[in-house]
Amino acid sequence: MTRVAMAGKGGVGKTTLAALIIEYISVSDPPVLAIDADANANLGEKLGVEPRSYMSVALDDIKDAPPSVAKHDFLKSRVYRALTEGKGFDLLVMGRPPGKGCYCFAHSVMKDTIGTLAKGYPHMIVDNEAGMEHLSRGTIEGIDVLIVVSDPTVPGLKAATRIRELSEELEISARRTVLMVNSCLEGEEEKIRTMVEERGFRDYVLLPYDETIKRLNAEGLPLQGLEGSKILNVVGRMCERLIL
Ligand SMILES: Nc1ncnc2c1ncn2[C@@H]1O[C@H](COP(=O)(O)OP(=O)(O)O)[C@@H](O)[C@H]1O
Ligand SMILES: [Mg+2]
Repeated sequence: MTRVAMAGKGGVGKTTLAALIIEYISVSDPPVLAIDADANANLGEKLGVEPRSYMSVALDDIKDAPPSVAKHDFLKSRVYRALTEGKGFDLLVMGRPPGKGCYCFAHSVMKDTIGTLAKGYPHMIVDNEAGMEHLSRGTIEGIDVLIVVSDPTVPGLKAATRIRELSEELEISARRTVLMVNSCLEGEEEKIRTMVEERGFRDYVLLPYDETIKRLNAEGLPLQGLEGSKILNVVGRMCERLIL
């Protein structure tokens, strides 16, 4: 079982690349457990599925559930109910973070439940929001591959470097960390490689800017029609090397 987590600042392409990875693996080695851990959830949109429910609904409802032991089972059953089935993958959407009150119990149960759930899948991909919230809170544990996404800019790569350092401090101890530099323009590759290597990234891939992706996003459509594209090619090769 390979657990993969996406990290990176906002708007760099984490969700887009997570969706492309999920789609690749859902064909090569299904089923994939896809987790949308962004409060502003949009992974389902990119994958072309409408989420049935959210983890946050279950966390809210737990207040009304009977005492401790039963609460555990209650939340477990709710997690399974919140799964949305796609072609070769199941999607679990976390939803907005809980409001006031102590959710330590709920979080620990959620962590256990996701851990148990994940055992039924050869691969799990977690799309995160900007920042390291879920990783640092330990909601998602035992990451094998940490994918840091950046745009090909100095501020972007600085943020990526901070995330890499934080992940080392937090002892997330991913087996591998790979940097995906997204939306690279043709002819700028050499310059970008130099910038990346100067910051100490050893394992990285460059992904091209893609007009189709931009257009699909503008129209609110799922990722489709990218067969044979350069970006899918790079994503596929990365999956074969690090995940499959
Ligand atoms: N390689 C790419 N080429 C063109 N547009 C892209 C590419 N990757 C992402 N985008 C666009 O960039 C925006 C942000 O992408 P998104 O995946 O939502 O980022 P994040 O999840 O990191 O916030 C979206 O409009 C998306 O369509
Ligand atoms: Mg996103």
